[in-house]
Amino acid sequence: MAKIWLFSIILTLVSHTIGVYSSWEEWWTYDGISGPDYWGLLNPEWKLCNRGRRQSPVDIEPSILLYDPGMGKVEVDKQKVNGTLKNTGHSVRFRLDPTSPAVMVNGGPLSYKYRVHEILLHYGRTDDKGSEHTISGHAFPAELQILGYNNQLYDSMVEAMPKTQGVVGVAVMVQISNSSSPDLRLLTSQLDKIIHKGQMKNITHISIQGLLPDTSQFMTYEGSTTMPGCHETVTWIVLNKPIYITKAEIFLLRRLMQGDEAHPKTILANNYRPPQPLYNRSVRTNVFNHDIGDNKCFDSRKLFYRGNVGFIHWIE
Ligand SMILES: *[C@@H]1O[C@H](CO)[C@@H](O)[C@H](O)[C@H]1NC(C)=O
Ligand SMILES: *[C@@H]1O[C@H](CO)[C@@H](O)[C@H](O)[C@H]1NC(C)=O
Ligand SMILES: *[C@@H]1O[C@H](CO)[C@@H](O)[C@H](O)[C@H]1NC(C)=O
Ligand SMILES: *[C@@H]1O[C@H](CO)[C@@H](O)[C@H](O)[C@H]1NC(C)=O
Repeated sequence: MAKIWLFSIILTLVSHTIGVYSSWEEWWTYDGISGPDYWGLLNPEWKLCNRGRRQSPVDIEPSILLYDPGMGKVEVDKQKVNGTLKNTGHSVRFRLDPTSPAVMVNGGPLSYKYRVHEILLHYGRTDDKGSEHTISGHAFPAELQILGYNNQLYDSMVEAMPKTQGVVGVAVMVQISNSSSPDLRLLTSQLDKIIHKGQMKNITHISIQGLLPDTSQFMTYEGSTTMPGCHETVTWIVLNKPIYITKAEIFLLRRLMQGDEAHPKTILANNYRPPQPLYNRSVRTNVFNHDIGDNKCFDSRKLFYRGNVGFIHWIE
């Protein structure tokens, strides 16, 4: 460990000296010596990445879900907004214009209203991986995450991210299919304009709600941001239905590069953090599968839902 630590310091100094990386904040990756296992060592402010016990993503094991029928639908405003699609070198990001009308997320397990700040896309180089959250150890080709900040307590994402009840993350699994939604196509049709890190493209008239499947059923738990500094302030809502992307669209994603035009480095894909231990957290769901048959799916505590849950049917 000590050796690795020293090596990463040296690597950092070297890369700073030769000016490959623009800032310390960006000096982390999804593999190797600056990958997820070492994020907490790269910067003292990121120590939660290694030491935190409420980290994200997690593997969701249906047998440990707590059934909580009291949680209603997650509501996401449907108006259209403008924003900027960007290759950040770490992921594909769509950030709403600050001047666009606020898109709010509330309901479900949330006690506050959250204002959507950005959308991130994590995806694999091959179809068997890419999502951050996994279900029974099963990864999906991609995961779309809508991140919002608590607009009743805080004034911006930057302010909210390290604070209590600061952030909501709505996670949607992405499956490959023959068609995708018009709103997703507004984003994917511009991917060829953001091949390299730092490139951006303005997008107009996109509906965040239009990117989502039905939001009435979900799993939820308390976790963290999945990039450094791994702040443990995120209420995650993992929707029970997937959305779809075409093979051609995912092919475009896999053409993006991690570096800028001068130093393209390698392909930007497999940009997911692996599942983190749940430790003593619970994952709640409002999904009840009536097909299970009898009431034996509840144990003596009447809450511990151990049956097969609805989302299993869409795992291929
Ligand atoms: C979005 O951009 C279009 C074109 O630039 C503009 O006409 C429209 O007013 C913008 N909408 C919002 C909500 O900012
Ligand atoms: C896609 O279309 C092809 C040909 O039309 C069909 O054979 C295939 O089953 C479809 N796949 C999906 C996932 O719908
Ligand atoms: C993109 O949008 C931003 C913010 O609305 C604006 O300042 C900029 O001029 C736009 N760029 C282009 C190329 O339209
Ligand atoms: C927390 O989880 C660990 C194992 O994951 C278990 O050994 C421990 O007893 C749990 N603690 C509590 C308070 O439930």
